[in-house]
Amino acid sequence: MSFELCTRIVNAIDADGPIPFSRYMAMALYESGLGYYVNGLHKFGAAGDFVTAPEQGSLFALALARELDRAAQALGPDWTALELGPGSGALARDVLLQLERPPARYLLLEPSAPLREVQRATLQDLPEDLRARVEWIGAPPASEFDGAIIANEVVDALPVERFGMTGSGIDQYRVTIKNGRLAWSTAPAEGRLLESVEHIVSDLAEPPGPGYVSEVCVDLAAWLATVTAPLARGLVFAVDYGYPRREYYHPDRTEGTLVCHYRHRAHFDPFFWPGLTDISAFVDFTAVAEAGRRVGLEIAGFTNQAGFVLGSGIAERLDAVTDERERIRLSGELKRLVLPGEMGEKFKLLALVRDFEHSPDAFALSDQLGRL
Ligand SMILES: C[S@@+](CC[C@H](N)C(=O)[O-])C[C@H]1O[C@@H](n2cnc3c(N)ncnc32)[C@H](O)[C@@H]1O
Repeated sequence: MSFELCTRIVNAIDADGPIPFSRYMAMALYESGLGYYVNGLHKFGAAGDFVTAPEQGSLFALALARELDRAAQALGPDWTALELGPGSGALARDVLLQLERPPARYLLLEPSAPLREVQRATLQDLPEDLRARVEWIGAPPASEFDGAIIANEVVDALPVERFGMTGSGIDQYRVTIKNGRLAWSTAPAEGRLLESVEHIVSDLAEPPGPGYVSEVCVDLAAWLATVTAPLARGLVFAVDYGYPRREYYHPDRTEGTLVCHYRHRAHFDPFFWPGLTDISAFVDFTAVAEAGRRVGLEIAGFTNQAGFVLGSGIAERLDAVTDERERIRLSGELKRLVLPGEMGEKFKLLALVRDFEHSPDAFALSDQLGRL
Protein backbone atom coordinates (compact mmCIF):
# COMPACT_ATOMS: atom_id res chain seq x y z
CA MET A 1 0.00 0.00 0.00
CA SER A 2 2.81 2.40 0.95
CA PHE A 3 4.63 1.32 -2.24
CA GLU A 4 1.61 2.22 -4.40
CA LEU A 5 1.28 5.59 -2.70
CA CYS A 6 5.02 6.24 -3.15
CA THR A 7 4.62 5.50 -6.87
CA ARG A 8 1.86 8.12 -7.10
CA ILE A 9 4.00 10.65 -5.22
CA VAL A 10 7.00 9.94 -7.49
CA ASN A 11 4.75 10.28 -10.56
CA ALA A 12 3.55 13.68 -9.29
CA ILE A 13 7.18 14.80 -8.80
CA ASP A 14 8.16 13.47 -12.25
CA ALA A 15 5.27 15.38 -13.83
CA ASP A 16 5.49 18.69 -11.95
CA GLY A 17 8.97 18.85 -10.43
CA PRO A 18 9.52 19.12 -6.65
CA ILE A 19 6.09 19.42 -4.98
CA PRO A 20 5.18 21.73 -2.05
CA PHE A 21 5.21 19.90 1.30
CA SER A 22 1.46 20.67 1.70
CA ARG A 23 0.74 18.65 -1.48
CA TYR A 24 2.94 15.79 -0.25
CA MET A 25 1.20 15.81 3.17
CA ALA A 26 -2.24 15.88 1.52
CA MET A 27 -1.28 12.81 -0.58
CA ALA A 28 0.32 10.98 2.37
CA LEU A 29 -2.82 11.46 4.48
CA TYR A 30 -5.73 11.61 2.03
CA GLU A 31 -4.77 10.16 -1.39
CA SER A 32 -7.80 8.13 -2.43
CA GLY A 33 -7.75 4.63 -0.92
CA LEU A 34 -4.05 4.88 0.02
CA GLY A 35 -3.51 7.91 2.29
CA TYR A 36 -3.14 7.39 6.02
CA TYR A 37 -6.69 8.48 6.92
CA VAL A 38 -8.44 6.76 4.02
CA ASN A 39 -6.70 3.37 3.67
CA GLY A 40 -8.83 1.50 6.22
CA LEU A 41 -5.95 0.48 8.54
CA HIS A 42 -6.15 0.86 12.32
CA LYS A 43 -5.20 4.28 13.64
CA PHE A 44 -6.73 4.94 17.02
CA GLY A 45 -6.28 3.36 20.42
CA ALA A 46 -4.01 0.56 21.61
CA ALA A 47 -4.01 -1.31 18.27
CA GLY A 48 -3.32 1.84 16.25
CA ASP A 49 -0.69 4.55 16.08
CA PHE A 50 -1.76 7.12 18.67
CA VAL A 51 -4.23 7.74 21.50
CA THR A 52 -6.28 10.94 21.59
CA ALA A 53 -8.07 12.33 24.67
CA PRO A 54 -11.43 10.72 23.77
CA GLU A 55 -9.64 7.36 23.42
CA GLN A 56 -8.35 7.52 27.02
CA GLY A 57 -11.81 7.09 28.53
CA SER A 58 -14.91 9.23 28.93
CA LEU A 59 -13.67 12.01 31.27
CA PHE A 60 -12.69 14.41 28.49
CA ALA A 61 -16.11 13.88 26.90
CA LEU A 62 -17.74 14.53 30.26
CA ALA A 63 -15.91 17.88 30.62
CA LEU A 64 -17.04 18.84 27.13
CA ALA A 65 -20.59 17.63 27.78
CA ARG A 66 -20.80 19.86 30.88
CA GLU A 67 -19.88 22.90 28.79
CA LEU A 68 -22.20 21.91 25.95
CA ASP A 69 -25.08 21.45 28.42
CA ARG A 70 -24.60 25.04 29.59
CA ALA A 71 -24.66 26.27 26.00
CA ALA A 72 -27.68 24.08 25.19
CA GLN A 73 -29.63 25.82 27.92
CA ALA A 74 -29.36 29.06 25.97
CA LEU A 75 -29.61 27.48 22.51
CA GLY A 76 -32.86 25.62 23.19
CA PRO A 77 -33.80 21.96 22.52
CA ASP A 78 -33.38 22.16 18.74
CA TRP A 79 -29.67 22.79 18.90
CA THR A 80 -27.33 20.96 16.51
CA ALA A 81 -23.91 19.51 17.29
CA LEU A 82 -21.46 19.24 14.41
CA GLU A 83 -18.32 17.23 15.08
CA LEU A 84 -15.51 17.58 12.56
CA GLY A 85 -13.17 14.62 11.92
CA PRO A 86 -14.65 12.35 14.60
CA GLY A 87 -11.95 9.64 14.28
CA SER A 88 -13.18 6.46 15.96
CA GLY A 89 -16.47 8.09 17.07
CA ALA A 90 -15.58 7.69 20.77
CA LEU A 91 -16.04 11.39 21.56
CA ALA A 92 -19.46 11.50 19.85
CA ARG A 93 -20.60 8.40 21.76
CA ASP A 94 -19.38 9.60 25.16
CA VAL A 95 -20.60 13.18 24.74
CA LEU A 96 -24.05 11.97 23.68
CA LEU A 97 -24.23 9.54 26.60
CA GLN A 98 -23.26 12.21 29.12
CA LEU A 99 -25.25 15.21 27.88
CA GLU A 100 -28.26 16.18 29.93
CA ARG A 101 -29.61 18.23 27.02
CA PRO A 102 -28.69 16.24 23.90
CA PRO A 103 -28.91 18.02 20.55
CA ALA A 104 -31.73 17.43 18.11
CA ARG A 105 -29.06 16.37 15.58
CA TYR A 106 -25.45 15.24 16.08
CA LEU A 107 -23.74 15.64 12.71
CA LEU A 108 -20.46 13.89 11.95
CA LEU A 109 -18.41 15.48 9.18
CA GLU A 110 -15.91 12.82 8.17
CA PRO A 111 -14.19 12.89 4.77
CA SER A 112 -12.79 9.35 5.17
CA ALA A 113 -15.15 6.51 4.12
CA PRO A 114 -13.34 3.79 6.16
CA LEU A 115 -13.44 6.03 9.26
CA ARG A 116 -17.18 6.57 8.77
CA GLU A 117 -17.56 2.79 9.07
CA VAL A 118 -15.46 2.74 12.28
CA GLN A 119 -17.69 5.50 13.68
CA ARG A 120 -20.86 3.62 12.75
CA ALA A 121 -19.60 0.58 14.67
CA THR A 122 -18.73 2.71 17.72
CA LEU A 123 -22.13 4.42 17.75
CA GLN A 124 -24.34 1.44 16.96
CA ASP A 125 -24.89 0.52 20.60
CA LEU A 126 -26.16 3.94 21.63
CA PRO A 127 -29.72 3.91 22.98
CA GLU A 128 -32.09 4.25 20.02
CA ASP A 129 -33.27 7.71 21.10
CA LEU A 130 -29.68 9.02 20.84
CA ARG A 131 -28.65 7.01 17.79
CA ALA A 132 -31.57 8.45 15.83
CA ARG A 133 -30.02 11.92 16.23
CA VAL A 134 -26.72 10.92 14.59
CA GLU A 135 -26.14 11.74 10.92
CA TRP A 136 -23.04 11.55 8.69
CA ILE A 137 -22.35 14.33 6.25
CA GLY A 138 -19.65 14.74 3.59
CA ALA A 139 -19.62 18.54 3.63
CA PRO A 140 -20.83 21.26 6.02
CA PRO A 141 -24.65 21.50 6.01
CA ALA A 142 -26.10 23.83 3.38
CA SER A 143 -28.67 25.29 5.79
CA GLU A 144 -27.86 27.32 8.88
CA PHE A 145 -28.18 26.00 12.43
CA ASP A 146 -27.86 27.13 16.03
CA GLY A 147 -25.48 24.94 17.93
CA ALA A 148 -21.91 23.87 18.59
CA ILE A 149 -19.04 22.78 16.38
CA ILE A 150 -16.41 20.47 17.88
CA ALA A 151 -12.99 19.88 16.33
CA ASN A 152 -10.76 17.63 18.42
CA GLU A 153 -7.33 17.03 16.87
CA VAL A 154 -8.55 17.96 13.39
CA VAL A 155 -6.59 21.15 12.72
CA ASP A 156 -3.29 19.32 13.30
CA ALA A 157 -4.23 16.99 10.42
CA LEU A 158 -4.69 19.81 7.88
CA PRO A 159 -1.80 19.92 5.37
CA VAL A 160 0.83 22.56 6.17
CA GLU A 161 3.58 24.29 4.24
CA ARG A 162 7.14 24.06 5.53
CA PHE A 163 9.30 27.15 5.20
CA GLY A 164 12.84 28.17 6.04
CA MET A 165 14.38 31.56 6.74
CA THR A 166 17.47 32.33 4.67
CA GLY A 167 19.75 35.30 5.16
CA SER A 168 17.99 37.11 2.32
CA GLY A 169 14.38 35.88 2.37
CA ILE A 170 12.02 32.95 2.85
CA ASP A 171 12.22 29.51 1.21
CA GLN A 172 9.45 27.05 0.57
CA TYR A 173 10.36 23.47 1.42
CA ARG A 174 9.45 21.02 -1.34
CA VAL A 175 9.59 17.27 -1.75
CA THR A 176 11.77 15.76 -4.44
CA ILE A 177 13.65 12.53 -5.20
CA LYS A 178 17.38 12.26 -4.50
CA ASN A 179 19.29 8.98 -4.94
CA GLY A 180 15.98 7.15 -5.34
CA ARG A 181 14.53 8.44 -2.04
CA LEU A 182 12.10 11.18 -1.03
CA ALA A 183 14.09 14.23 0.05
CA TRP A 184 13.77 17.95 0.71
CA SER A 185 14.53 20.70 -1.76
CA THR A 186 13.90 24.43 -1.47
CA ALA A 187 12.81 27.30 -3.68
CA PRO A 188 12.02 30.96 -2.90
CA ALA A 189 8.56 31.23 -1.28
CA GLU A 190 5.90 33.02 -3.31
CA GLY A 191 2.22 33.96 -3.20
CA ARG A 192 0.12 32.95 -0.21
CA LEU A 193 2.98 31.20 1.58
CA LEU A 194 5.17 34.29 1.37
CA GLU A 195 2.27 36.49 2.57
CA SER A 196 1.50 34.12 5.46
CA VAL A 197 5.10 33.97 6.69
CA GLU A 198 5.57 37.74 6.34
CA HIS A 199 2.42 38.22 8.42
CA ILE A 200 3.71 35.85 11.12
CA VAL A 201 7.14 37.48 11.22
CA SER A 202 5.58 40.96 11.49
CA ASP A 203 3.69 39.75 14.56
CA LEU A 204 6.73 38.44 16.45
CA ALA A 205 8.80 40.42 18.92
CA GLU A 206 11.84 38.33 18.01
CA PRO A 207 11.80 37.41 14.30
CA PRO A 208 13.38 34.05 13.48
CA GLY A 209 16.90 34.19 12.01
CA PRO A 210 18.63 32.38 9.12
CA GLY A 211 18.42 28.59 9.29
CA TYR A 212 15.09 28.65 11.13
CA VAL A 213 12.54 26.13 9.78
CA SER A 214 8.85 25.90 10.65
CA GLU A 215 5.36 25.28 9.31
CA VAL A 216 2.25 27.26 8.53
CA CYS A 217 -1.23 26.09 7.54
CA VAL A 218 -1.93 28.41 4.62
CA ASP A 219 -5.45 26.97 4.10
CA LEU A 220 -6.54 27.30 7.72
CA ALA A 221 -8.64 30.47 7.27
CA ALA A 222 -10.45 29.10 4.20
CA TRP A 223 -11.14 25.80 5.99
CA LEU A 224 -12.48 27.52 9.12
CA ALA A 225 -14.67 29.81 7.01
CA THR A 226 -16.18 26.78 5.23
CA VAL A 227 -16.87 24.64 8.29
CA THR A 228 -18.30 27.48 10.37
CA ALA A 229 -20.36 29.06 7.56
CA PRO A 230 -23.64 27.32 8.57
CA LEU A 231 -23.31 28.29 12.25
CA ALA A 232 -25.89 31.05 12.69
CA ARG A 233 -25.63 31.23 16.46
CA GLY A 234 -23.53 29.25 18.88
CA LEU A 235 -19.99 28.19 19.59
CA VAL A 236 -16.95 26.39 18.23
CA PHE A 237 -14.49 24.35 20.30
CA ALA A 238 -11.09 23.77 18.70
CA VAL A 239 -8.95 21.35 20.72
CA ASP A 240 -5.44 20.38 19.70
CA TYR A 241 -1.77 20.30 20.49
CA GLY A 242 -0.38 23.70 19.79
CA TYR A 243 0.80 27.04 21.04
CA PRO A 244 0.00 30.70 20.84
CA ARG A 245 2.01 32.26 17.97
CA ARG A 246 4.83 33.74 20.06
CA GLU A 247 5.56 30.31 21.53
CA TYR A 248 5.01 28.42 18.27
CA TYR A 249 7.54 30.54 16.41
CA HIS A 250 9.86 30.93 19.37
CA PRO A 251 13.45 31.47 18.19
CA ASP A 252 14.54 28.29 19.99
CA ARG A 253 12.06 26.10 18.08
CA THR A 254 14.37 26.00 15.06
CA GLU A 255 13.18 22.67 13.56
CA GLY A 256 9.45 23.36 13.37
CA THR A 257 6.67 21.24 14.83
CA LEU A 258 6.08 18.38 12.40
CA VAL A 259 5.43 15.16 14.28
CA CYS A 260 4.70 11.72 12.88
CA HIS A 261 3.21 8.68 14.61
CA TYR A 262 3.72 5.05 13.81
CA ARG A 263 2.59 2.38 16.27
CA HIS A 264 2.76 4.64 19.31
CA ARG A 265 6.22 5.95 18.46
CA ALA A 266 6.54 9.63 17.70
CA HIS A 267 9.20 10.47 15.10
CA PHE A 268 10.09 13.40 12.90
CA ASP A 269 10.61 11.88 9.45
CA PRO A 270 7.57 12.61 7.25
CA PHE A 271 9.07 10.46 4.46
CA PHE A 272 8.98 7.27 6.56
CA TRP A 273 6.43 4.87 5.02
CA PRO A 274 3.95 7.36 3.55
CA GLY A 275 0.38 6.20 4.10
CA LEU A 276 1.31 4.06 7.10
CA THR A 277 2.55 6.94 9.26
CA ASP A 278 0.47 9.79 10.60
CA ILE A 279 1.89 13.23 9.83
CA SER A 280 0.75 16.29 11.78
CA ALA A 281 1.89 19.75 12.78
CA PHE A 282 1.20 21.67 15.97
CA VAL A 283 -1.51 24.33 15.74
CA ASP A 284 -0.84 28.09 15.84
CA PHE A 285 -3.85 29.06 17.99
CA THR A 286 -3.30 32.75 17.31
CA ALA A 287 -3.86 31.92 13.61
CA VAL A 288 -7.09 30.05 14.47
CA ALA A 289 -8.28 33.07 16.50
CA GLU A 290 -7.39 35.46 13.63
CA ALA A 291 -9.15 33.24 11.09
CA GLY A 292 -12.19 33.12 13.36
CA ARG A 293 -12.36 36.90 13.75
CA ARG A 294 -12.18 37.25 9.97
CA VAL A 295 -15.43 35.27 9.62
CA GLY A 296 -17.30 37.07 12.38
CA LEU A 297 -16.49 34.76 15.29
CA GLU A 298 -15.50 36.20 18.66
CA ILE A 299 -13.00 34.63 21.01
CA ALA A 300 -14.79 33.35 24.12
CA GLY A 301 -11.94 31.56 25.85
CA PHE A 302 -8.51 29.98 25.57
CA THR A 303 -6.94 27.61 28.04
CA ASN A 304 -4.87 24.45 28.23
CA GLN A 305 -6.40 21.00 28.68
CA ALA A 306 -5.50 20.88 32.37
CA GLY A 307 -7.35 24.18 32.93
CA PHE A 308 -10.34 22.98 30.94
CA VAL A 309 -10.70 19.55 32.52
CA LEU A 310 -10.11 20.72 36.09
CA GLY A 311 -12.21 23.87 35.52
CA SER A 312 -15.14 21.73 34.41
CA GLY A 313 -15.35 20.32 37.95
CA ILE A 314 -15.19 16.68 36.91
CA ALA A 315 -12.33 15.90 39.29
CA GLU A 316 -14.87 16.19 42.11
CA ARG A 317 -16.79 13.38 40.45
CA LEU A 318 -14.04 11.04 41.54
CA ASP A 319 -14.90 11.72 45.18
CA ALA A 320 -18.33 10.24 44.59
CA VAL A 321 -16.97 7.00 43.11
CA THR A 322 -17.14 4.32 45.77
CA ASP A 323 -15.71 1.38 43.80
CA GLU A 324 -11.97 1.43 44.58
CA ARG A 325 -10.83 -0.07 41.26
CA GLU A 326 -12.97 2.35 39.28
CA ARG A 327 -11.64 5.25 41.31
CA ILE A 328 -8.03 4.21 40.58
CA ARG A 329 -8.82 3.83 36.86
CA LEU A 330 -10.46 7.26 36.71
CA SER A 331 -7.67 8.98 38.59
CA GLY A 332 -5.14 7.46 36.15
CA GLU A 333 -7.21 8.78 33.26
CA LEU A 334 -7.48 12.19 34.88
CA LYS A 335 -3.71 12.36 35.39
CA ARG A 336 -3.05 11.61 31.71
CA LEU A 337 -5.46 14.40 30.75
CA VAL A 338 -4.12 17.08 33.08
CA LEU A 339 -0.48 16.48 34.05
CA PRO A 340 1.84 18.95 32.32
CA GLY A 341 4.17 16.16 31.14
CA GLU A 342 1.21 14.27 29.62
CA MET A 343 -1.60 16.11 27.77
CA GLY A 344 -2.31 18.88 30.29
CA GLU A 345 -0.16 21.69 28.87
CA LYS A 346 0.54 20.53 25.32
CA PHE A 347 -3.17 20.52 24.41
CA LYS A 348 -5.15 23.76 24.25
CA LEU A 349 -8.81 24.64 23.85
CA LEU A 350 -10.02 27.67 21.97
CA ALA A 351 -13.69 28.62 22.21
CA LEU A 352 -15.18 30.88 19.54
CA VAL A 353 -18.73 32.20 19.46
CA ARG A 354 -21.05 33.69 16.87
CA ASP A 355 -23.97 35.85 17.94
CA PHE A 356 -23.90 34.06 21.30
CA GLU A 357 -23.09 35.14 24.85
CA HIS A 358 -21.08 32.36 26.42
CA SER A 359 -18.13 32.51 28.73
CA PRO A 360 -17.15 28.89 29.21
CA ASP A 361 -17.20 27.97 32.91
CA ALA A 362 -14.46 25.45 32.36
CA PHE A 363 -12.10 28.16 31.06
CA ALA A 364 -12.43 30.35 34.15
CA LEU A 365 -10.01 28.36 36.32
CA SER A 366 -7.11 29.10 34.01
CA ASP A 367 -8.05 31.83 31.52
CA GLN A 368 -5.10 32.18 29.13
CA LEU A 369 -6.54 34.59 26.57
CA GLY A 370 -3.60 36.91 27.15
CA ARG A 371 -1.23 34.30 25.67
CA LEU A 372 -2.87 34.40 22.24
C1 LIG B 1 -6.11 12.96 14.38
S1 LIG B 1 -7.68 12.43 13.82
C2 LIG B 1 -8.66 12.94 15.21
C3 LIG B 1 -9.83 12.07 15.43
C4 LIG B 1 -10.75 12.40 16.59
N1 LIG B 1 -11.30 13.74 16.52
C5 LIG B 1 -10.09 12.15 17.93
O1 LIG B 1 -9.80 13.10 18.61
O2 LIG B 1 -9.84 10.98 18.26
C6 LIG B 1 -8.11 13.57 12.54
C7 LIG B 1 -9.50 13.41 11.96
O3 LIG B 1 -9.80 14.54 11.13
C8 LIG B 1 -10.37 14.09 9.91
N2 LIG B 1 -10.18 15.14 8.91
C9 LIG B 1 -9.11 15.38 8.15
N3 LIG B 1 -9.30 16.43 7.33
C10 LIG B 1 -10.53 16.91 7.62
C11 LIG B 1 -11.31 17.98 7.11
N4 LIG B 1 -10.85 18.79 6.17
N5 LIG B 1 -12.53 18.18 7.65
C12 LIG B 1 -13.00 17.37 8.62
N6 LIG B 1 -12.32 16.33 9.12
C13 LIG B 1 -11.09 16.09 8.63
C14 LIG B 1 -9.66 12.77 9.68
O4 LIG B 1 -10.27 11.96 8.71
C15 LIG B 1 -9.71 12.18 11.09
O5 LIG B 1 -10.98 11.65 11.40
